[in-house]
Amino acid sequence: MSTSVAESRENLDDLLSDEAINRPFEYYRRLREVHPVYWNPRWNGWIVTGYDAVIAGYRDSDRLSSDRFSGPFGAEMRRSASTFEQLIQFLSRFFVWKDPPFHTQMRLVVNRAFTPKSVEVLRPRVQELVRELTEPLRAGEAVDFLGTFAFTLPVVVIAEFLGVPPEARFEVRDWSEDLGAVIFMRGKEQDRLEKGEQAMRKLVDFLRPIIRDRIKNPKDDLLTRLATNDDSGARLSEEDVIANAVLMVFAGHETTMNLLANMVVAFEQFPDQWDRLYRDPSLEKSATEEILRFDGPIKGLGRWAKEPFEFFGQSIKQGDRMLLMQHAGNRDPQGFDDPDRLDIGRNPNRHAAFGQGIHTCLGAPLARIEVQEVLSYLTKAFETIETLNDTLLYNPTVVSRSLQSLHVKARPR
Ligand code: HEM
Repeated sequence: MSTSVAESRENLDDLLSDEAINRPFEYYRRLREVHPVYWNPRWNGWIVTGYDAVIAGYRDSDRLSSDRFSGPFGAEMRRSASTFEQLIQFLSRFFVWKDPPFHTQMRLVVNRAFTPKSVEVLRPRVQELVRELTEPLRAGEAVDFLGTFAFTLPVVVIAEFLGVPPEARFEVRDWSEDLGAVIFMRGKEQDRLEKGEQAMRKLVDFLRPIIRDRIKNPKDDLLTRLATNDDSGARLSEEDVIANAVLMVFAGHETTMNLLANMVVAFEQFPDQWDRLYRDPSLEKSATEEILRFDGPIKGLGRWAKEPFEFFGQSIKQGDRMLLMQHAGNRDPQGFDDPDRLDIGRNPNRHAAFGQGIHTCLGAPLARIEVQEVLSYLTKAFETIETLNDTLLYNPTVVSRSLQSLHVKARPR
């Protein structure tokens, strides 16, 4: 291989390069142009960037496993199990990281607890919170949008929905942040595992007595619905209720927070779409879907092959790892016309931001309500929201598309 080919190949294989982190659409387009299912020797796995291939990968839970505790992802977890006992014990119960039949059983019980109807009743409370939390913006102040507004709204919503006592919700958020470092692989491995273990212990000690209390004194909240028998008589173990309550706190805040920040940046690039939404508020739902497609908060998630098979012209071997990059698939011209353009009326818009198949995001209805209400309120209240950062930098993780900071100033209408 000539030096320049080797160099450009090297750049192509560094998933944490400046380009991959701060200009991912260019980077993943380059990968897709080589092959939509690309072998990355440095990561030692397949990087899937084509729209059809991403969707097919998410749907193929027969051949592609989500299990993080066996197969090629399991080695680190197993190595850590004796030192970081609580962390690994409870992470291993996250149903997002399980295959059928365990996943099917858990998802059935959780689906019954987390119905679109039970989520829809939250809408007025979300509207109230949006108004409250945007006060500094209305006052014309420079605002740390990510650290205050985007950080607070989703955590308050999910904490109230679960039934976490209000006085504890910020502590819970901080513990969940520390877990995020483990799950999204931020920072040094040893530090993040140590912090994650501490955080998990605190979350478990905090949630266990609340869950026991809910069994004796049921309330109208998700913790009660998870902890008590449902109509079918199915009941989760106490450990599973705790673990999956932790999963929901975590999944329910980090993703939505990052999406709200990405949304501000996207509209700043396409101010005509901001005005369009102001003039036609009926576009609020399709605008939400377009933001999810255009710059969703999860770039991609991992799977591994349970058996050998052919996938979009590539021979996948048993045990091979695969990254399904929906962030890239959502910008594939094979899936969307003019994909780099934000079009809030886009229809159809079959984006993959919430994944597909058996693990499709459980919280999608909740995330949609939050983004719809934020968009609806902000477009009515503000003519513009301007980014104050000189440069926008993103956290160096493969999984999440998350800004390091976002400071803004808004011009009220
Ligand atoms: C914009 C916000 C969100 C995005 C983009 C998002 C994205 C995703 C994706 C891509 C998956 C699939 C995981 C996989 O296939 O491995 C997923 C699963 C999940 N999400 Fe979300 N999510 C969001 C918000 C939420 C919220 C608010 C909750 C609230 C509880 C939530 C809870 C979950 C859970 C529990 C799963 C696991 C489902 C399963 O394995 O069956 N998410 N999410």
